[in-house]
Amino acid sequence: METTARDVSRFLACDVFAQGNRGLSESCGRLLFSALPAYMNGMAADQNGHSERVKELVRQHWNRRAADFDLEASHGLLTDAQAHAWRRLISDLAGAVPLDVLDIGCGTGFLSLLFAAERHRVTGVDMAPTMLARARDKAKAQGLVIRFVEADAETLDLAAASQDLIVERHVIWTLPHPETALDTWRRLLRPGGRLLMIEGHWGPAERRDEYNRIYDCLPLFGGRPEAEMAALVRAHGFASVGVEPLMDPELWTEPPGHPRYIVTARA
Ligand SMILES: C[S@@+](CC[C@H](N)C(=O)[O-])C[C@H]1O[C@@H](n2cnc3c(N)ncnc32)[C@H](O)[C@@H]1O
Repeated sequence: METTARDVSRFLACDVFAQGNRGLSESCGRLLFSALPAYMNGMAADQNGHSERVKELVRQHWNRRAADFDLEASHGLLTDAQAHAWRRLISDLAGAVPLDVLDIGCGTGFLSLLFAAERHRVTGVDMAPTMLARARDKAKAQGLVIRFVEADAETLDLAAASQDLIVERHVIWTLPHPETALDTWRRLLRPGGRLLMIEGHWGPAERRDEYNRIYDCLPLFGGRPEAEMAALVRAHGFASVGVEPLMDPELWTEPPGHPRYIVTARA
């Protein structure tokens, strides 16, 4: 992929160990881009270490929030009506035939539990151990067998073409390399397997705590309009890409304050 002036300025602005760079503007990045090709090479070499530092802050953030994560209506199931609405949605999406389902960034197990309750064979992956611990406790309490694995959503070390359905909710926005992730996810799907992404466009609301230091490093931070997200999925080789709004107030216990939607696609 071609490196642009915007990439340069974003990289400099988001270096978590050089907070003084945050004020660098895009035009400044353009200047550096033309003047410092050698520096660019050095930066490319540092990209891996940099990404790991960003992901470490993401991990810290969610580890800290695990204990009360489920208390928010956009995270947990707070009412019977909400639980019913999600069960109906998942059942409609997955169908009756048991599938191998991979829940990426499963957190405290929201989607994993719903799919497992519908008798699908579920693996949930997340990189925050305390979120996974909550997910395991909940699965045990509900008598559900789910494999939970600590892993990075961008580089999952699972067998190619091993999944019928890959699902994620509210995860792609917090990845430093969402495009790499999409390529990885497509590789894990069997031919014709499906991707379901429950996402939204909520703006800068999460720009707090650790995210204050890294939001510039997350290309989809704040979510994206549904057409843009669908175009990104399509650009990464998925077919039959569709988008449906998820604005039913029962899913969120209230009318959503920003666009929420589901992207569906096939490998
Ligand atoms: C907003 S929470 C969503 C959790 C869950 N999907 C849900 O809908 O309730 C985002 C989750 O993504 C996880 N996550 C973020 N970056 C990740 C990565 N690179 N690999 C795996 N998990 C990641 C976080 O640890 C967190 O549990």
